[in-house]
Amino acid sequence: MADKQISLPAKLINGGIAGLIGVTCVFPIDLAKTRLQNQQNGQRMYSSMSDCLIKTIRSEGYFGMYRGAAVNLTLVTPEKAIKLAANDFFRHQLSKDGQKLTLPKEMLAGCGAGTCQVIVTTPMEMLKIQLQDAGRIAAQKKILATQLSAQASAPTSVEAPAASRPTATQLTRDLLRNRGIAGLYKGLGATLLRDVPFSIVYFPLFANLDQLGRSASEEKSPFYVSFLAGCVAGSAAAVAVNPCDVVKTRLQSLQRGINEDTYSGFLDCARKIWQHEGPSAFLKGAYCRALVIAPLFGIAQVVYFLGIAESLLQLLQEPQA
Ligand SMILES: *[C@@H]1O[C@H](CO)[C@@H](O)[C@H](O)[C@H]1NC(C)=O
Repeated sequence: MADKQISLPAKLINGGIAGLIGVTCVFPIDLAKTRLQNQQNGQRMYSSMSDCLIKTIRSEGYFGMYRGAAVNLTLVTPEKAIKLAANDFFRHQLSKDGQKLTLPKEMLAGCGAGTCQVIVTTPMEMLKIQLQDAGRIAAQKKILATQLSAQASAPTSVEAPAASRPTATQLTRDLLRNRGIAGLYKGLGATLLRDVPFSIVYFPLFANLDQLGRSASEEKSPFYVSFLAGCVAGSAAAVAVNPCDVVKTRLQSLQRGINEDTYSGFLDCARKIWQHEGPSAFLKGAYCRALVIAPLFGIAQVVYFLGIAESLLQLLQEPQA
């Protein structure tokens, strides 16, 4: 028998709930990832994830770690909706009379869903990255201003120019006005180069790990096996595509710190990173990304397993019955 049928609304609600819990739990790590990936050699402010989080709390407060979280909280449900609908569509197209999909077809459906999902993912990342990185740039300017006024004998203005704190809506309006729709879709190619290979690594790895914990007689692995397989496969795939994530973060960042390189496109960015920062720079933020992806996958699987949406929908129906 195939998996139990879950309605699309239930899947959506589950995906939305998982997304909201996930964002709340791991957004600070995601912020540290963006800042670590964006700092180039020479003017590094943060030495590690914990260092970045501590400095962020000191200069921007606890909520500073959640700058940009509103973007994820608002868009995670539409993003999941597109992904689920696309995934269902491709799986349906690829399956012969309701049979279980073969692994290559499962990968193909995953890649197709990933490709459709970038319609929402790219603008989402674009806004999130500006908001997450703004604090790093402001802190850099402040340090420079302090150094300059220490050098000049008369300490006139120690204050750095007040950092403006645009909201996601203001950013969207400015981007659309100055660059049109293309402004919101900067880094689209890099996002695809990250998300499609992610599926190519994730699906076979998950299938193999999941199978390890299943005896020949069993149709399905126990929940904890699938749970662990999902977390491990997700993290491994995230680390594998991290070089593309670094390039994507750099391309999408509109503000540059002091003395930081600017890039004209994917290849230019990859070349400059290699030359100026060395190959290891492509792993910047990889540890954080693994720490973001594993809980996001884990939380989603638990929400689906518990069938939270199904229970909610039933609760809503009962009074009328
Ligand atoms: C926020 O959304 C982006 C775009 O889908 C995603 O890459 C990132 O992992 C999300 N962050 C969190 C903490 O959910």
